[in-house]
Amino acid sequence: MTDLDATAREILRGNDRGGYTIPTAGLYPFQWNWDSAFAAWGFSTFDPDRAWTELETLFSAQWDTGMVPHIVFHKEDDGYFPGPSVWGPGTTPASSGISQPPVAAILARKIHDSVGGTERLRALYPRMLAWHRWWRDWRCPEGVACVTHPWESGRDNCPDWDPGMANVDGSQVGTYTRRDTGHVDASMRPGKEDYDRYIAMVQFGRACGWDQKTILEDGPFLMADPAITFILIRANRDLAAIAETLGEDPTEPLAMAAEIEAALPSIWNDELQAYCARDARTGEFASAISSGAALGLLAGVENAAMEEKLAAMWDRVRYGIPSNDPAADSFDPRRYWRGPTWPVVNALIAIGLTSAGRSAEERRLRKETAELIRSGGFFEYFDPLDATPCGGDRFTWTAAIWLAWANREDA
Ligand code: SER
Repeated sequence: MTDLDATAREILRGNDRGGYTIPTAGLYPFQWNWDSAFAAWGFSTFDPDRAWTELETLFSAQWDTGMVPHIVFHKEDDGYFPGPSVWGPGTTPASSGISQPPVAAILARKIHDSVGGTERLRALYPRMLAWHRWWRDWRCPEGVACVTHPWESGRDNCPDWDPGMANVDGSQVGTYTRRDTGHVDASMRPGKEDYDRYIAMVQFGRACGWDQKTILEDGPFLMADPAITFILIRANRDLAAIAETLGEDPTEPLAMAAEIEAALPSIWNDELQAYCARDARTGEFASAISSGAALGLLAGVENAAMEEKLAAMWDRVRYGIPSNDPAADSFDPRRYWRGPTWPVVNALIAIGLTSAGRSAEERRLRKETAELIRSGGFFEYFDPLDATPCGGDRFTWTAAIWLAWANREDA
């Protein structure tokens, strides 16, 4: 075990709040959905029992509708905005009213493959299936996966969402105090106009009691997300494989994957020659390729034209896949999802590269990601041009993917 392995374990242990892991102290003091799935993957490398507990705690907050919230507010903490009182009365424990990328089945399968735990997986299976059905019923109105809030994508201020955000009115939100910019440099976070709109969307959801039909049909924002689309195809296939392992019927998750796959042409942007975010209300495409497209291989989507674009995007930086194309006007190398490279997304892309047998690219991505962590520490994201560490430090998912992926010697 190297010193960095030991530090990564310490970060996971240190961010453990008893059955769930916070992403990082201060900035994100609650349980976040996809962060926790990655935390479980990290824990599985040295404490399999704790890995399953992480997923169980997350799914214990599942709504009756099948939705698994993006934040679970297990304990009070006024260091974060918007907290439980802004999201409104919800379930117990209190939670946000939107979801986040459904990576749990992908990682649960990996964890089970490497450390076992069939009975823990069996108990989670119906919950994961219910969540995937919720995505099908409430987020895939025309086949591909849509998000109703940029936070639901997990890639908050990515330029992917600019067309939809332009039509959200943030002028009536009233006064509020952001907490994020008290924890990290404001130049690395979304701007005020973005935040006003984020809060306006939360207020809309709260006002309709998180009624999904209202949000889907009349909500202020609805955009097709290539990243969640690819993730959901893969997650459904992994769920089908899990079903087979458990002696369950894999037909339904396979059918859900096939249905989404059949709708992929609706997010093909001919001008960009890439799969791309698209406003489901207006039909407008995002104007630049993002790391969302790089997740295509997760879903087994191979496309030579798009791969050429992605390779050029990668070659424009030195470290990892950037969240936004450096050739785009909107590129901002340290501002959250408008340019930085995210170790966790690189790990997810690498799962796709491995599945596609692209070992040289996988190795390059792993080495570049490891270099960022070695030189800068376990930060949330990094400037892909000069490796400056950005956002939160001692970050759970960066430590987790170090243990589960980035620290691996060449296979
Ligand atoms: N990522 C959001 C935030 O920064 C919420 O999920 O608060």
